Amino acid sequence: MVSRVIPVEPFDLVIFGGTGDLARRKILPGLFRRFCAGQMPKNSRIIGAARADMDAAAYQAFVGEAISEFGGARTCEDGTLQEFLAQISYQTVDIRGDNGWDMLKADLSGDGRVEAFYFSVGPSLFGDIAERLHRFGMATPDTRIVVEKPFGRDLDTAKALNATLATHFEEGQIYRIDHYLGKETVQNLMAVRFGNVLFEPLWNSQYIDHIQITVAETVGVGGRGEYYDKSGAMRDMVQNHLMQLLCLIAMEPPAKFDPDSVRDEKLKVIRALEPVELHHMVRGQYEADGDEPDYRTAVNDPRSRTESFVAIKAHVSNWRWAGTPIYLRTGKNLVARSSEIAVVFKPLAHSIFSTGEADLPSNVLAIQLQPNEGITMNVTIKEPGPGGMRLVDVPLDMTFAEALGEEGGDPPDAYERLIMDVIRGNQTLFMRGDEVEAAWAWTDPIIEGWQARHDVPKPYEPGSSGPTDSDQLMIRDNRKWREIKV
Ligand code: BG6
Repeated sequence: MVSRVIPVEPFDLVIFGGTGDLARRKILPGLFRRFCAGQMPKNSRIIGAARADMDAAAYQAFVGEAISEFGGARTCEDGTLQEFLAQISYQTVDIRGDNGWDMLKADLSGDGRVEAFYFSVGPSLFGDIAERLHRFGMATPDTRIVVEKPFGRDLDTAKALNATLATHFEEGQIYRIDHYLGKETVQNLMAVRFGNVLFEPLWNSQYIDHIQITVAETVGVGGRGEYYDKSGAMRDMVQNHLMQLLCLIAMEPPAKFDPDSVRDEKLKVIRALEPVELHHMVRGQYEADGDEPDYRTAVNDPRSRTESFVAIKAHVSNWRWAGTPIYLRTGKNLVARSSEIAVVFKPLAHSIFSTGEADLPSNVLAIQLQPNEGITMNVTIKEPGPGGMRLVDVPLDMTFAEALGEEGGDPPDAYERLIMDVIRGNQTLFMRGDEVEAAWAWTDPIIEGWQARHDVPKPYEPGSSGPTDSDQLMIRDNRKWREIKV
């Protein structure tokens, strides 16, 4: 199956922080891949904006290197890179001062096309940029701005950021990125739920025993120790990525697949989350592994109490989900890089076989987000051959790479898709201000509780599935985490 690429209208995209890590690793290579795919029109323009003093040629060389390092395996026709680089320019801009802004404005095409400004910088600079875009006459009612996480570090700071941006831009112009929403299989969650008659009637606490959401990483904090130690897994992953997954799995069907209908339903889920009880969460910190330092050494603070792992039993307190817990788990330095949502159905009400109903394996719908995007459904069948009715549990496997051919196995990177959505003006996969605030309103008391109690995270072995207390969280409920594996 060949994917359809719908070209967007020519656009100008300004990347503040154009020489930064995100631009180098994700934004620029992603744009190049969209260019190769024929989605980004040839007369579109990309303008890097940063403090460094360089000219367009030097920036083009920087972009070329970023693409060769992070561009991925997708092939492009000869000469495409040169064509792409020819569309790129650069402006030295002092974000906190007034230098360079006039030049930036003069560099825009100014022919009525979509103008998007990507704030690929720390949130402390969002206000400065928004204010100057306004003051230097670059903010029009059609302007779009793209902001990255972390969107605040608690409810108060998120509210303040929202208020600052709202001074200069309407909510419909603000694209808050959570790159998990751009992942192919995350969107497939909605397709599977709302595009098939099969699942929705069973999608409630009457049939579903519990749901597990796991985002496991093999990497440690690496060179990001300073940032990470101020965040921890709760702020870095749960408040945004895992909560977005939880929303998509638990939300009511929106009336339409449009930005506000979808986001209204997600917001209702966040607001229905109950406060988490103390014994329903586990924090962990990884230990040393041979030459690899332990968490505290990696972040250069021998007394750090920040968590690199967290597991939570959450409850969505509404008619659909009352009594069906949703377990969340994420951590660094774990056994495998694997993100999965598993919907575990209840046992049969009655077994006609000699095997009692409680002993029959439960149906599990497992949605694998990465790697190997796909969906499997465990079903019970008869073991082949004579010898009576022996039952076995087998997976119905739909790995997208196999089911959809080449494109299924190589979906666009989350950033590629999301940037094109900005240009197309589609906010469905972006977080609305009230969603972000509601997510902080749920996570703040959890984090404050840890701080007030001087909670010390439990140590766990690198390459494991987290601290043993995390297993206990499940065992106490007569349940078991699914194995973390690729
Ligand atoms: C980022 C976090 O948002 O997501 C990182 O800040 C994390 O700590 C990353 O490693 C995981 O993203 P992905 O796409 O590799 O699963």
